[in-house]
Amino acid sequence: MNRSQGASGDSSPTRRGRVLIVDDEEVIASTLEEFLTGEGFEVAVAGDAERGLALVQSFEPDIALCDVQLPGLDGLDLLDRLLKTRPETLVLMITAYATVENAVAAFHRGAHDYLMKPVIFEELLTKLDRLMSFRRLLQENQALRRALHAPVNLETLVGESASMIAVKAMLRKLGPTRSNVLITGESGTGKELVARALHALGQEPEAPFLAVNCAAIPNELLESQLFGHVRGAFTGADRDRAGLFVAAGRGTVFLDEIGELPLATQAKLLRAIETKEVLPVGATRPVAIAARVLAATNKDLFAEVNAGRFRSDLYYRLNVVAVNMPALRERRGDIPELVTVLLARHASRLGRPAPRIDNAAVKRLASAPWRGNVRELDNALERAIILADGPVLTPRDFPAEVLGPGGDDAVQLSTSDDLREALEQYERAHVRRVLDDCGGDKREAARRLGLGLSSLYRKLEDHAPGRAEGDQG
Ligand SMILES: Nc1ncnc2c1ncn2[C@@H]1O[C@H](COP(=O)(O)OP(=O)(O)OP(=O)(O)O)[C@@H](O)[C@H]1O
Ligand SMILES: [Mg+2]
Repeated sequence: MNRSQGASGDSSPTRRGRVLIVDDEEVIASTLEEFLTGEGFEVAVAGDAERGLALVQSFEPDIALCDVQLPGLDGLDLLDRLLKTRPETLVLMITAYATVENAVAAFHRGAHDYLMKPVIFEELLTKLDRLMSFRRLLQENQALRRALHAPVNLETLVGESASMIAVKAMLRKLGPTRSNVLITGESGTGKELVARALHALGQEPEAPFLAVNCAAIPNELLESQLFGHVRGAFTGADRDRAGLFVAAGRGTVFLDEIGELPLATQAKLLRAIETKEVLPVGATRPVAIAARVLAATNKDLFAEVNAGRFRSDLYYRLNVVAVNMPALRERRGDIPELVTVLLARHASRLGRPAPRIDNAAVKRLASAPWRGNVRELDNALERAIILADGPVLTPRDFPAEVLGPGGDDAVQLSTSDDLREALEQYERAHVRRVLDDCGGDKREAARRLGLGLSSLYRKLEDHAPGRAEGDQG
């Protein structure tokens, strides 16, 4: 049994957290589910480890509640895989009295807490709330934790199209300088990847790379994140705290979605860049900074300047050099390589062999609209790996709205005035599209077309007299 559901009804903003239950005992799982849903948690249930892992990807739980004993992959192996797949998820192991050793082993292997069976609801709630506070603390520190820089070099930037070669040449030149760089481009084009590459190619690759998303943090918090604060500056400021500019040392501060920065903060940022000093919130004395500033935006920042929403002096400060990331649809030639690399990346993260993908699917992916660029492609591939039925990915493993109208096979008005000829042309395109979608599987294509298999063969013969069309299936 595998059910998943959101918190019921009024989606109160004070959601208590997202909990994944992995337990093969259906009665226990559904009792827990009902109880936690009633308590305001969002809950998903998996009956075994494999489903649990899949849900970790799609449901993104804050906390996973795992039985130590599961059929197939056991609870401890699940724990290992889960921590690898999504380290942010906190794991609460549930164990029967007889397996208390397992609980100890679970702790050693990275579980965050455990509970004994039978589960006492009050105890469970206390533990979940405690884990949720811990999780919020972790999230608060996320910007700092991102300092743990994964090695990024230009090879991680896939693409050999002319525009990507130009981007990489630019990055090689800019990396070793300490100039501020403005990275522009649509959402999902790889702006953050470029920022990390610039940092890795820079003079201080070992120094921190600290990213902050200007759109995601409320303004009061943003200033204290960037510039720090002193004890007592506001309620809750119980000690001095260094901001990112100071914490980065001679490393990099990456200001993501800079277009969302409020005007008041823009003024303070400009001053920080010009004077190489910041004034922590509530402080009277400025602190010297040495970090390099990289900024990214998917807005037309120059238009924002003209509209009076972005300071022109800050714009010129940040935009000493601009790197513009091309949209994926402007470099479709890179798609097949991206597909291969991204599939391998997800497969290794999921601890599976990289799946194969058929030509029809690659072709459809190469002609899809990709309004969300590489990120959207990446998500589509991840989803396909997780949900695919067979060992080979086919167009069927991708949602139609992702693939868009099927490239050359999209409905086109016939050039012929003769009705019969026009209908024949349409029929040919339609049959070919369905066959492609089925990865060349004629039996399945016939089923979907509502035809007998022999009628489909006849049609294919009619369409291509004298040839055995693309015969693989
Ligand atoms: N050229 C590329 N090669 C390999 N992976 C890429 C490439 N470009 C982007 N990606 C991957 O696509 C995803 C999105 O990239 P990134 O976060 O850098 O985009 P972004 O422009 O910052 O997006 P957003 O505007 O949505 O924040 C990441 O997982 C990244 O690793
Ligand atoms: Mg980004």
